[in-house]
Amino acid sequence: MTVPALLLQMAVPGSHANRIADTFNPVATPAHMEKGIAILTIAICAVIFVVVGGMIVYAFVHYRAKRDEQEFEEPPQVYGSNQIELAWTVIPILIVFVLIGVSARVIRGIQAHKPAPHSNPVYATVVGHQWWWEVHYPDLGITTANEIHMPVSQKGNHATFFTLESADVDHSFWIPQLSGKTDVIPNRNNFLWMDPSKAGVYIGQCAEYCGTQHAHMGLRAIVQPVPEFKKWAAWQAKPAVEDPSVAKDKAVFDSLACINCHTVRGTIAQGKFAPDLTHLMSRQTLGAGVLSNTPQHLRDWVNDPQKYKVGCKMPDMHLDDQQLTEVVAYLETLK
Ligand code: CUA
Repeated sequence: MTVPALLLQMAVPGSHANRIADTFNPVATPAHMEKGIAILTIAICAVIFVVVGGMIVYAFVHYRAKRDEQEFEEPPQVYGSNQIELAWTVIPILIVFVLIGVSARVIRGIQAHKPAPHSNPVYATVVGHQWWWEVHYPDLGITTANEIHMPVSQKGNHATFFTLESADVDHSFWIPQLSGKTDVIPNRNNFLWMDPSKAGVYIGQCAEYCGTQHAHMGLRAIVQPVPEFKKWAAWQAKPAVEDPSVAKDKAVFDSLACINCHTVRGTIAQGKFAPDLTHLMSRQTLGAGVLSNTPQHLRDWVNDPQKYKVGCKMPDMHLDDQQLTEVVAYLETLK
């Protein structure tokens, strides 16, 4: 594991050893291009470090006071040198312009990329919220949260194109192995695309400070072979499962204020402020990555979200034990 990978793993909540947010292990074109710039920048900085450090060490050693010197002698004083001053002005300017040029070329290459005709692009809209991610696939009729499913892309086919929006403050959308950070800004649409070449789960994270729970604004990109992605999409597009065995529990859920914020498609729950729960149980985490999605965690979370994510907009509903059991029993059927 590289050092940056280690640091990132510590910084990204809910990540495991086998799911590392590693900028130096790219699996999509934008991330490959950005890795190139990162290595160039590190190489240039390393050369500067060696040259400057080398000169300092040389000066220390070469000009230090000699033991046998009887008297301190002032070295020759040099005032001004056109060559040296020109060199340390022109060389940094050249370096800066090289880095600007290379970065601009890559940014343009990413921004200007359009799907080729007949390449089966997937379109997704991601909306940053305090502190979770809303994900829409307008063409597929899917709304989900904190998890982005993408097909594996080959030769430009099945790439995913994102429109990035914010519902409140600035956030930054970042899945290190797939692409660099792109700011998510209110009243503005930003664009990004990814063509992941390998199936897997890639950890993402909000990368712009956006309030107390900024660090707990995780997301997961789940890259699947095309047929699996299609299966997932077909299931997600369906309205919520109606399980008659939890009709009583559903009635309790429908009677609570939960439905003012959450949507369960096909039911009276049509709230738009919070994550869509239609297929809640198909997701891996709760609270944008703070808890893994197990029945016990779901109960803990509904019971007191503020305990796990202080300041998040979901309040403690003060449900009694029985209500809690009923609500969770219903939610667990939302596969
Ligand atoms: Cu959203 Cu930081």
